[in-house]
Amino acid sequence: MIKKCLFPAAGYGTRFLPATKSMPKEMMPIVNKPLIEYGVDEAIQAGMTDMCIVTGRGKHSLMDHFDKNYELEHQISGTSKEALLDNIREVIDSANFTYIRQREMKGLGHAILTGKHLVGDEPFAVVLADDLCINKEQGVLAQMAALYKQFRCSIVAVEEVPADETHKYGVIAGESLTDNLMRVTDMVEKPEQGTAPSNLAIIGRYILTPDIFDILENTEPGKGGEVQITDALLEQAKNGCVLAYKFKGTRFDCGSVEGFIEATNYCYENIYK
Ligand code: UTP
Repeated sequence: MIKKCLFPAAGYGTRFLPATKSMPKEMMPIVNKPLIEYGVDEAIQAGMTDMCIVTGRGKHSLMDHFDKNYELEHQISGTSKEALLDNIREVIDSANFTYIRQREMKGLGHAILTGKHLVGDEPFAVVLADDLCINKEQGVLAQMAALYKQFRCSIVAVEEVPADETHKYGVIAGESLTDNLMRVTDMVEKPEQGTAPSNLAIIGRYILTPDIFDILENTEPGKGGEVQITDALLEQAKNGCVLAYKFKGTRFDCGSVEGFIEATNYCYENIYK
């Protein structure tokens, strides 16, 4: 069973400036719920109990969100608005939250390595909260946790994207095992236009085995001068096995303005109303 879920949330969120100047991108609400709470809901649904959050300067509101606010609770106690706190209360009661600060933003790989102190020596999930994944029957992490039980190796969630968008993602090549599962043979971070090994892009859901930390410790900065998780995963794939899973569900790239608006409209129509 995977118990721990790591949330790298130290990035600057520059695509959403000025909103993200003093507010973490992960706290931006889709309708009335912050992005990170959707991610935590998904982890809890997958049976995970320990939420390990990598934060940075100016991200205090993330910690406050997953804590009690006695004044507010007292104020709305017994009123009709109390029900609005039901989900977050349940989340706080059913999971542990730990935090570590990434002092310098050296990339996603470095953020994951920073989380080593919270995760320890066990397999863990990673959620990038700005990728909002929705699937009514079973969340994407739950789908991946079930696969992990069977295969016991790192798994990345992938999605087909248009060829002219592959340069925004880590892109994989692989050998098919089943209709929706592949063994990764190659991985490239943000390939130049026209050079991607496929149109299968890695999205913000991973299950990682803990040997990834040793690999990350020796991974040099790659694309954009950042330590890339893609480079570490390719190393892991070469020495052992990494799977790529075409998940069931819909993903919204809430790190972009267009994706954020689409997610808002979708959640308003299908969840909130
Ligand atoms: P992104 O590149 O999507 O996030 O990183 P960003 O850098 O915050 O956004 P923009 O591009 O400037 O708008 C993917 C994830 O990795 C985290 C981010 O918080 C996001 O969840 N991250 C990235 C870190 O935690 N630390 C880093 O050094 C870099």
